[in-house]
Amino acid sequence: MRVGILGTGDMAAALGGQWVRAGHEVFVGGRDEGRAAVLARRIGAAGHGTSRAAAEFGDGAVLCALPYEAGAEVVGGLEAALRGRVLVDCGNPLGEGFALLTEGGPSAAERLAAAAPGARVVKAFNLCHESVWRLAPPVFGGRPLAVPVCGDDEEALAVVRELVRDIGCVPYDAGGLGRAGLVEATAALLIGLWVGAGVDAQAMVPPVGQVAQG
Ligand SMILES: NC(=O)c1ccc[n+]([C@@H]2O[C@H](COP(=O)([O-])OP(=O)(O)OC[C@H]3O[C@@H](n4cnc5c(N)ncnc54)[C@H](OP(=O)(O)O)[C@@H]3O)[C@@H](O)[C@H]2O)c1
Repeated sequence: MRVGILGTGDMAAALGGQWVRAGHEVFVGGRDEGRAAVLARRIGAAGHGTSRAAAEFGDGAVLCALPYEAGAEVVGGLEAALRGRVLVDCGNPLGEGFALLTEGGPSAAERLAAAAPGARVVKAFNLCHESVWRLAPPVFGGRPLAVPVCGDDEEALAVVRELVRDIGCVPYDAGGLGRAGLVEATAALLIGLWVGAGVDAQAMVPPVGQVAQG
């Protein structure tokens, strides 16, 4: 499929590189076209240019790989180009001390959806560090990484599940876009534990067979 990427940073490189390897046509778009060109060359993308060009190119999906603070404004400016597009939001609205910047308000994903009401927003890929998304494939202890996806549009969800499987992961349906805030809050919690406390956050979670047993 044709995938446009908004952003030229770490997540754009990690996920864009995986999707190129999976056989997709990837177009890197950024406010700095020079950086877009460098990244496109590095990952073997089909093209590079402005964010608008990436939004127009991505008739399969468009990845928003921008800081939370910039996402809604950039996406809002591309509203017309993003109409009908599957817009994948990997953003984490985190501030100082792993604080959730959206506390008490709409999630980052919902803010993107409000900024570009015609786009079909799906939350995914925000829980893990970019180095994890570079692994080919991200498998730990023989188990492929599970990726929660949240969205309201079944067709868009099907596209994102495919993009998840393409990098060797397993999609987990985590509900509608209204639940994206829970995934963002989970990222705040996990990153605080992994990075802030330096502990193994995975150890908090029992195997599914044990979850409801007394
Ligand atoms: N890095 C991770 O491990 C990771 C993991 C999970 C989720 N995330 C989330 O993924 C998103 C992207 O993270 P990243 O690590 O890829 O960030 P990054 O490496 O800092 O790249 C950010 C990109 O956004 C662009 N940008 C910044 N401000 C902008 C603005 N006002 N207008 C237009 N473009 C702007 C930057 O352009 P310039 O180069 O021109 O500044 C750059 O291309 C963030 O929301 C982050 O929370 C990151």
